[in-house]
Amino acid sequence: MILSGKARLAGVMGWPVSHSRSPLLHGHWLERYRIDGAYVPLPVPPGRIETALRALPVLGFRGVNVTVPHKEAALEMCDELDPLARRIGAVNTVVVGEDDRLIGSNTDAYGFIENLRRNSGWRTGPAPVVVLGAGGAARAVCVALLDAGAASLTIVNRTRLRADFLADELGAGVDAVDWDQRHATLEGAMLLVNTTSLGMTGQPALNVDLAALPADAIVCDIVYAPLETPLLAAARARGNPVVDGLGMLLYQAQPGFEAWFGVRPEVDQALRRVMLEDLAG
Ligand code: ATR
Repeated sequence: MILSGKARLAGVMGWPVSHSRSPLLHGHWLERYRIDGAYVPLPVPPGRIETALRALPVLGFRGVNVTVPHKEAALEMCDELDPLARRIGAVNTVVVGEDDRLIGSNTDAYGFIENLRRNSGWRTGPAPVVVLGAGGAARAVCVALLDAGAASLTIVNRTRLRADFLADELGAGVDAVDWDQRHATLEGAMLLVNTTSLGMTGQPALNVDLAALPADAIVCDIVYAPLETPLLAAARARGNPVVDGLGMLLYQAQPGFEAWFGVRPEVDQALRRVMLEDLAG
């Protein structure tokens, strides 16, 4: 597509950034909505994120996504922060505002909950939600669930201290348990979410025995490569409703695209197909 001199510009800053699927995702929407704009990969080495973000206004960029390893550093240097980004402790979306101010937000929580709601019958209730993992992704997932009204969260992590730390920070209704307890803790749960990297292509499978999990509990994996992780395959085989991780990636991109390009983009089957073809290739 040929850009005009008035093209709207955005991109993704990360290191490495070549693996990011965001250019494909935003590129699909730019074409679909016939927008005079571009979304480009921007490799920014560790330690250079402040310089790179500060350059956005002079380069005429409307903003960027920020990914590994810059999400926490971006939080420190934005001029304004969405309260959710502060609670999650990371920024994944930056918008250049008036007077060239950098406004940071985190759309991962939105992406997670929107994907869960649209692809399952999840409703809040008294039964606990079990979250596997206590890293950055777990933090966004837990905040999303609490804000959506989840009454009880159990965080299970290999490194117990990390689970304790996150549970303490999140406050009432959140408990931490030992990794050894991951099988037994599923008893009575209404939702199980994997936020660890286990099950991802090239990583070991997540070893969790689903026997204690109620038959109607939803099982959600935020890993999307492969789309059907061993966890989701095991859950599907015993009849549990499952939600894959691709939707979270797609929905988290919506708010940024709207802010930079002025159109609220749709997450639909055509977009999923494009992304799945890329994952397969
Ligand atoms: P992210 O920001 O993507 O969540 P992270 O902060 O590195 O990444 O967190 C990765 C999560 O996967 C952590 O909960 C990690 O457990 P530890 O806190 O004990 O490191 C979990 N994880 C990674 N490899 C694991 C493994 N082999 N067994 C169990 N948990 C694992």
